[in-house]
Amino acid sequence: MTLAEKLGQLQQLDGEGNGNFRPEHRALVRQGLLGSTLNIRGTPRTNELQRIAMEESRLKIPLLFGFDVIHGYRTIFPIPLAEASSWDPTLAERSTSIAAKETYASGVRWTFAPMLDIARDPRWGRITEGAGEDPYLGAAFARARVLGFQGSDYSAPGKILACAKHWVAYGAAEGGRDYNTTDMSEQTLREIYFPPFRAAIDAGAGTVMSAFNDLNGVPTSANPFTLTKVLRGEWKFDGFVVSDYTAVKELINHGAAANDKEAAEAALNAGVDMEMVSRLFNQQGPELLKEGKVSQATIDEAVRRILRIKFRLGLFEHPYTAEAPESDSLLTRANRAAAREIAGRSMVLLKNDHEALPLSRNIGSVAVIGPLADDHRTPLGWWAGDGRPDDTITPLTGIKAKVSPQTRVGYAKGCDTQGDSNAGFAEAVALARASDVAIVFVGETSDTVGEAASKSSLDLTGRQMDLVKAVHATGKPTVVVLMNGRPLTIGWIVDKAPAILEAWMGGTEAGNAIADVLFGDVNPGGKLPVTFPRAVGQVPIYYNHMNTGRPPDANNRYTSKYLDLPWTPQFPFGFGLSYTQFKISNLQLSAQHIRPDGKLTVTVDVENVGRRAGDEVIQLYIRDVAASMTRPVKELKGFHPVALRPGEKRRVEFTLGPESLAFYNREMKFLVEPGEFKVMVGSSSEDLIEAKFVVD
Ligand code: NOJ
Repeated sequence: MTLAEKLGQLQQLDGEGNGNFRPEHRALVRQGLLGSTLNIRGTPRTNELQRIAMEESRLKIPLLFGFDVIHGYRTIFPIPLAEASSWDPTLAERSTSIAAKETYASGVRWTFAPMLDIARDPRWGRITEGAGEDPYLGAAFARARVLGFQGSDYSAPGKILACAKHWVAYGAAEGGRDYNTTDMSEQTLREIYFPPFRAAIDAGAGTVMSAFNDLNGVPTSANPFTLTKVLRGEWKFDGFVVSDYTAVKELINHGAAANDKEAAEAALNAGVDMEMVSRLFNQQGPELLKEGKVSQATIDEAVRRILRIKFRLGLFEHPYTAEAPESDSLLTRANRAAAREIAGRSMVLLKNDHEALPLSRNIGSVAVIGPLADDHRTPLGWWAGDGRPDDTITPLTGIKAKVSPQTRVGYAKGCDTQGDSNAGFAEAVALARASDVAIVFVGETSDTVGEAASKSSLDLTGRQMDLVKAVHATGKPTVVVLMNGRPLTIGWIVDKAPAILEAWMGGTEAGNAIADVLFGDVNPGGKLPVTFPRAVGQVPIYYNHMNTGRPPDANNRYTSKYLDLPWTPQFPFGFGLSYTQFKISNLQLSAQHIRPDGKLTVTVDVENVGRRAGDEVIQLYIRDVAASMTRPVKELKGFHPVALRPGEKRRVEFTLGPESLAFYNREMKFLVEPGEFKVMVGSSSEDLIEAKFVVD
């Protein structure tokens, strides 16, 4: 390979907005100067460009087509934060494997997913793309998503290459402001932010994306510690690293490089292999090599890693994708059915006083109210792949299809999600008055979550809260359904509404799934994967915090709390109700003492003591009571989703071993320290029964 051809493999360029390639791509591919693209999709286009690579370029190296398939390609599944609310990673494995099939059929062989950033700050709009605040839950979903996309062999038809992103700590952006600086101890990095990535690499993720953020003074797209020492050295990752969009060029803005040449040098030497969109490797590579600032070995290694993945993907044998009619594989009935089921399993029942829900489908009349009740775009979320609003089932459509033919369903939008107008309130109030129940759909639109969608307020926007109040004031039972991509501050609703359903952004089948839950065909069993604050001023607020020297005490002013607000969250991590009730009891440990390398079995009984079949998630937390480093008050170390019929009782078992009890000590050694541990098991991080044991 010539140097130009080698550098060509390191280049990834963006297509046109509509999924087509750009005119210049033809010439670049022909000359061997382009290794990969993003956003180009649809088999006529991918095959056309691939044909140039395979027939007209000197070396005939196939192109690798990438695209952001975050929660679905054409059939859109719930946003990843919602899917994580199911606490059932098998659902994420299913949705990503369906997404992989649809993506494959469209000529794309690589997704920029899963996004594995731990997020403790709901102001950050990208919290919507991940699995929430917890490293253990995050790791479980990371594994499932990689397996769903890739399977055990991503060269198989219908499988695609995954990309673990954004490496790393991107979710810790200061102030929740996207792209902002991050600064943290190595212990926090390793214990909180690394585990989902480690799980993804162990599951075989073929690629990793370096992030936008500065980490402890060294931007993550030029960070030898994270890109080489940890990823390659400690974790033995042998795939390739692609930079995020223009992140190499942005090293200049960071102040980590004085010019293009230094930026390329820093990123290449740190361990970035492929450059997304900016072209500094190509432009500066020859001179950097001549001056000895980047070695031939470094460039060769980057090329080798990229080619290795292209080989593993089977691209050399099968560079083209069959041009079958899209209807054969996209948005099939089966895919829609899976999306509906998964959306139902992703919802969280936050409140249900006096069994306000479920509703009877024979109810006389229903008022469907709110700006999101018939919005086709919002359920698709921010990264909608090739999802189309026309395909979306809105809540209004879903409810109409669900109720009996005699039921009267009225609809009033009430207001928009933005702006000051309450001109639609009168109609909404009149409709509520004339109906047996009002269901109000409020939240946020898809353009206010995701990338570059940070917010300083988590309140409902526009006049939405006033709309809820006006409808509630009619005295009619008022059910609030939230459609949103991040935790919101909804104190008034929590105090006053009899029932609240967190429906998130549920994807193409959101409306049917919401109707399934509201009318009791699906009993909600989701649990929050992230803490809901009472007010944005509490942020960051997360369950696995340290205890402090002065833990909050209502009777002592000089303890860690707020003067103007309780210190507790609105809804804790792991919280979620059901239409039935569960009793968790009889916590047993297999031993009172274990050795540091020993194991312990924890068992508990769970019984459905209500009148309906339902799902519960049994959660296990530990606390290392005293150690050489302060430890969190709780750390999730196991969970089991269980489905039980009324009266059914089951014994659930967990195993705790060194990997659950160890932490990084002051010397950055990962080990179990002797002393007392608490084990807590229950239905949320705040509803737990506990026991103790000692590591000798
Ligand atoms: C920027 C985003 O940060 C990243 O997640 C995405 O994969 C790329 N753009 C490509 O669209």
